[in-house]
Amino acid sequence: MDDLTPPGDGGVAYFVDRQPRVADFEQAVIAGLRAPQKEIPAKFFYDEEGSHIFNRICETEEYYVTRTEIGLLSDRSDDIRRLAGPGAVVIEYGCGSAAKINLLLDALEDPAEYAAIDISPEHLRFVVEDISTRHPGLRVGGICADFTGDFELPSEAAAGGGAKLGFFPGSTIGNQTPEEAGVFLGQVRENVGDDGALLIGVDLKKDIGRLNRAYNDDAGHTADFNLNLLRRIERELDSEVDIDGFEHHAFYNEGEGRIEMHLRAKSAQRIRIGGETFRFSEGETIHTENSYKYTVREFGELSARAGFAAGATWTDADGLFSIHFLTAA
Ligand code: AVJ
Repeated sequence: MDDLTPPGDGGVAYFVDRQPRVADFEQAVIAGLRAPQKEIPAKFFYDEEGSHIFNRICETEEYYVTRTEIGLLSDRSDDIRRLAGPGAVVIEYGCGSAAKINLLLDALEDPAEYAAIDISPEHLRFVVEDISTRHPGLRVGGICADFTGDFELPSEAAAGGGAKLGFFPGSTIGNQTPEEAGVFLGQVRENVGDDGALLIGVDLKKDIGRLNRAYNDDAGHTADFNLNLLRRIERELDSEVDIDGFEHHAFYNEGEGRIEMHLRAKSAQRIRIGGETFRFSEGETIHTENSYKYTVREFGELSARAGFAAGATWTDADGLFSIHFLTAA
């Protein structure tokens, strides 16, 4: 069911669509709302609207993640260039911010290709066209897919060039449990092969007040991001939801080492989807996201179990965030 758009469109070499959409979202929401602890997987935050709201979060003072990582990528560009070597084929798992990928592509010596993987087709289209315009001569392709499942690179990707370099910034790895993250890293290890590497950003354990503030910004963008899931249900599914009946709830769970985000019913609520009614008592929640935090040591152990060796690890002066250049072991 791959839908191949021929080249010539904005200079993009390939655009492979492997993402089942509405059916997938509807099934995941229904299955999640039937569970005793209601839940919706965090990957569904990123429709077009959600991707825009996420960019607003990244600009808030409270959310240190994005600017700290960008600072590290730019300070360490010479090291990254040296470690990656010439002619790299860059594979980005989820294309978030153009600023980060541009920094990486500019740091590298004659990169051969940029293959972007993202779950949102509109966002992916925008990013690959933007990158191919900004980096003439670079082979650029898009793969619309869910990279958290079994993910293999399509044959169009990584045609020629030097070693493969996975790029997974933003601490997106934090959305997965440590067990899932281990499986994912093993799959990336297969994608990049025996001479490949992975450049990954990982948010660190730190002062709890600081963590809680990062997910409860004063302007309310994180709340808006969370509540957009309900608006998305309303937009895309045959449904009835009282969005104002729910509120954003985010907190650091110290035992689990993760931020949890929930949508909490302010009073008894019901959500109807298709023919089915899901009832909420007052205070009951839908668990919408986990954002795991690691120590450098914990993440080093996790990646080692997946077949990677730490080539280099960098953190900012305040110890907020880490970037790891991992090589295939
Ligand atoms: C994109 C998954 C890294 O967990 O910090 C930001 C998403 N959620 N604010 C994170 C997010 C609420 C973000 N990741």
